[in-house]
Amino acid sequence: MTVHFIGAGPGAADLITLRGRDLIAGAQVCLYAGSLVPQALLQHCPPGARIVNTAPLSLDEIIAEIAAAHEAGHDVARLHSGDLSVWSAMGEQLRRLRALGIPYDVTPGVPAFAAAAAALGAELTLPGVAQSLVLTRTSGRASAMPEGETLAAFAATGATLAIHLSVHVLDRVIAELTPHYGGDCPVAVVFRASWPDQRILRATLATLDPSLGMGERTGLILVGPALAQEGFAESRLYAGDYDRRFRPVGARPRFPE
Ligand SMILES: C[S@@+](CC[C@H](N)C(=O)[O-])C[C@H]1O[C@@H](n2cnc3c(N)ncnc32)[C@H](O)[C@@H]1O
Repeated sequence: MTVHFIGAGPGAADLITLRGRDLIAGAQVCLYAGSLVPQALLQHCPPGARIVNTAPLSLDEIIAEIAAAHEAGHDVARLHSGDLSVWSAMGEQLRRLRALGIPYDVTPGVPAFAAAAAALGAELTLPGVAQSLVLTRTSGRASAMPEGETLAAFAATGATLAIHLSVHVLDRVIAELTPHYGGDCPVAVVFRASWPDQRILRATLATLDPSLGMGERTGLILVGPALAQEGFAESRLYAGDYDRRFRPVGARPRFPE
């Protein structure tokens, strides 16, 4: 018996890995975080599977479901939205499972920031403009931000920011970032990336209307000069005169064949 933690992807039902799909198909129990995991993924569950939406459950109740499956010798598919390495609450579940001696494994998924970048058709790291991407959030009711992890501190680096769980406080995000990036810095907000009702807002920090995030929950804010997708040099990797292992150039290549 194993608990398979599976990244369910950002919303579109076909943005799950083949491994994740097959693990769902082989598990007699499926626990899914109902707020963001697409219902269509549950079609992969085998006939007769026990399928539980964990959105209304406490951690104790979720672990009780897993312990019951363990007792019965049933595999569990545990679905969380996007990838499990960020804001999935997987860490606390794994700690409980380790304490109980219940085996588990983890299958990655497509994270929301990647789906949002795809929707924008944007590379978030451009030569000479931004070579780092910060995945962050603002503090919420359930989780305060650790000291030092402020938007201002990340903005001071000039990196591209992918700000989660924050579309309802767009006004605060704009106010904290503008002194660092400037009002003409491009910003994009992607609501429900990859879902059928996906929506994209493009603006600058100065022109973004903060009221557009009101009443919304599932959106990602991307900010930084790289969002302009212009004003950058081409990478050296594909330059015709760049001598490299897979494309030796010149009379004395660095990596002779
Ligand atoms: C609890 S976090 C889950 C993150 C997820 N584990 C991941 O890998 O992206 C939820 C936040 O992720 C972002 N998010 C999740 N799915 C999204 C989507 N399809 N489009 C835009 N943002 C999304 C939103 O900022 C939302 O508030």
